Amino acid sequence: MNLNAIDRYAKSLIKEAGHKIRVSFFSTIDIDSKADANDLVTNIDREVESFFVERVKQDFPEHKMVSEEGYGDKITSLDGVVWFLDPIDGTMNFIHQRRNFAISLGIYVDGVGMLGYIYDVMRDELYHAAKDEGAYFNDERLPQLEITPLEDAIIGINASWVAPNHRVENEKIIELVTRCRGTRSYGSAAIELAYVSSGRIDAYISMRLAPWDIAGGIVIAQEVGAVATNLEGVTPHLLGSDTFIVTRPGLHEEILSKYIRLK
Ligand code: IPD
Ligand code: CA
Ligand code: CA
Ligand code: CA
Repeated sequence: MNLNAIDRYAKSLIKEAGHKIRVSFFSTIDIDSKADANDLVTNIDREVESFFVERVKQDFPEHKMVSEEGYGDKITSLDGVVWFLDPIDGTMNFIHQRRNFAISLGIYVDGVGMLGYIYDVMRDELYHAAKDEGAYFNDERLPQLEITPLEDAIIGINASWVAPNHRVENEKIIELVTRCRGTRSYGSAAIELAYVSSGRIDAYISMRLAPWDIAGGIVIAQEVGAVATNLEGVTPHLLGSDTFIVTRPGLHEEILSKYIRLK
């Protein structure tokens, strides 16, 4: 398999899809909700996903596509080549802010992440990586991440963690957000993963993410030495949703062992 050719192909699809999304703001966008009133989807999420699925099915019929809006394949194993695609990660931002959303894509071979892409569409910023070949922000190579103490760290965490919830012990999380330098919440898991990989934030934690939210970002994160696991400390499984944490080296163990207690 020629991964360089697949890499060039994937990048050109991403850029074409990004253009479609930017152009979509010139016409009316149809908004629907899915599981609940705040779980939003638009015709553009669907159109971008079907654009990828149709192209990949035509040009690589043996590859599988796992994607959010239902145009891809249902898989029960990670054998072969699997594309994990989120056509728009941060749909709420896409609708409300018209920025701060990304196309997220990971290409895995027999369960191993080989290529990863996060494209911040409105900023025209592409974060990408190939396994063992380094990670890039546009054409600039991203340096290896260095250790940062918690006191100097900015943590990507959503306010729902400190509201009463059935997943985690709130007191510990309150201690974590009090001890770190600051917190941020961008509303796109992919962008938050890209920000950890490029050193803009130092950790990102989520209670529930789908494979298409994280598959591309994990490949990028690993190339710069970030540590990405579920909240049990093992590789997130990509056949269903999972908890998630990604940090610079050094912070992962401390946050998981001292501050995150799952109920
Ligand atoms: C969502 C975003 C959000 C995260 C949610 C995801 P979507 O993806 O990444 O930041 O908190 O868990 O589902 O639905 O906008 O693709
Ligand atoms: Ca969604
Ligand atoms: Ca998503
Ligand atoms: Ca999405």
